[in-house]
Amino acid sequence: MNVLLLGSGGREHALAWKLAQSPLLTKLWAAPGNPGIEDHASLVDIKPADHRACIDFCLKHSIDLIVIGPEAPLVDGLADNLRTMGFKVFGPDREAARLEGSKGFTKDLCAEAGIPTAAYARFTDAEAAKYACPEFGLPVVIKADGLAAGKGVIIAETSGEAEAAIDAMFGGEFGKAGSEIVIEECMAGEEASFFALVDGETALPFGTAQDHKRAFDGDAGPNTGGMGAYSPASILDAAMQARVMAEIVEPTARTLAARGTPFSGVLYAGLMLTAEGPKLIEYNVRFGDPECQVLMMRLEDDLLALMHTTAEGGLAELDPPRFSDDVALTVVIAANGYPGTPEKGGAIAGIDQAEASGAKVFHAGTARDGAVLVASGGRVLNVTATGKDIAAARKAAYAAVARIDFPTGFHRTDIGWREIERSKALQKA
Ligand code: AMP
Ligand code: GLY
Repeated sequence: MNVLLLGSGGREHALAWKLAQSPLLTKLWAAPGNPGIEDHASLVDIKPADHRACIDFCLKHSIDLIVIGPEAPLVDGLADNLRTMGFKVFGPDREAARLEGSKGFTKDLCAEAGIPTAAYARFTDAEAAKYACPEFGLPVVIKADGLAAGKGVIIAETSGEAEAAIDAMFGGEFGKAGSEIVIEECMAGEEASFFALVDGETALPFGTAQDHKRAFDGDAGPNTGGMGAYSPASILDAAMQARVMAEIVEPTARTLAARGTPFSGVLYAGLMLTAEGPKLIEYNVRFGDPECQVLMMRLEDDLLALMHTTAEGGLAELDPPRFSDDVALTVVIAANGYPGTPEKGGAIAGIDQAEASGAKVFHAGTARDGAVLVASGGRVLNVTATGKDIAAARKAAYAAVARIDFPTGFHRTDIGWREIERSKALQKA
């Protein structure tokens, strides 16, 4: 099969690495890709936003499957345009991608399908939002409706903060994403991520993970896209996963299919495990970054076969995908300044040494400057390792991090702390 992978981050490097292991693969292209992806794919200089250029490339190179990594082209309808031209695509059409593109859309779908989630209301003007806000108690969650690169959510502790957040969103702080807002009850519990392959009616569980969103140790500092992750998340045990499938993922797939806008691709459910059971925080319509990196390290089945079967609508004939019992953990090395303005151009060395012990270093924001590998983004490398348990995976990942020479970068030193504490508590009991 000829495959085109769209995207340029650590998630796409992990996908490229795994796709390249498939016996079904003839040739892999990536657009625009990055220096790590180039080890597995031929890089093509097209932007996923240029649908015309993507279609022309796929026609010319007889592409059998297009894998769309990031959310923006999905929300923008790239999958629809490719499918119209007869191509097989891993990733949902525009209407189903609204699960990520509009928080209000997802909340309304949850209400229609009886899916457990926080109480909410949607608003298109500030006065009405401020009037209704006290009903939700404190703290209260204020969200920009549209895509805001993970930044459009404010948890307000006081009514003053809530009003300021409402004003900021309608005042254009998040651009068009904030022209509508959602106000939600604040849920208490532990967060975890659950993934499922979905092809319309059929959904298969596709692993669990937890990430660390804050920039610094001890879950301090500003929110980021994720500073590290591990898989599995032991809190999502088999019984909990079965509940999430039955109460959240399957009703979502059924509702979208019944509307005539079926979901096809990977559905990523951000969950809050509350005292009343699992509740949906939000959906993403693509793999998490860096959650994908740890999932790919554990996946035992052929990713290309799974993605192609999803795109063809054949999941009903498959058994659930198999993952190794090992734990995988990834540490993000970011450029100084992230998540603000990251320092660009810092030299990176030591990747071969880091990988010598079996770790895998995925490139997230790197570029080549002549013979030197340099930082070109906020999150730069994802140093990923596996072990028989969380402690072993963490030790291996940090041993590899220590071999990376990247003076203008930083990383957290406590990735996995929650899981380590849980396993210590279990050992004591
Ligand atoms: P989202 O972009 O919707 O995932 O929200 C970002 C983060 O805000 C989540 O990972 C949660 O930590 C938090 N969050 C969002 N909605 C809620 C809620 N209703 N209750 C508690 N925390 C929330
Ligand atoms: N790591 C969170 C995300 O990919 O949305």
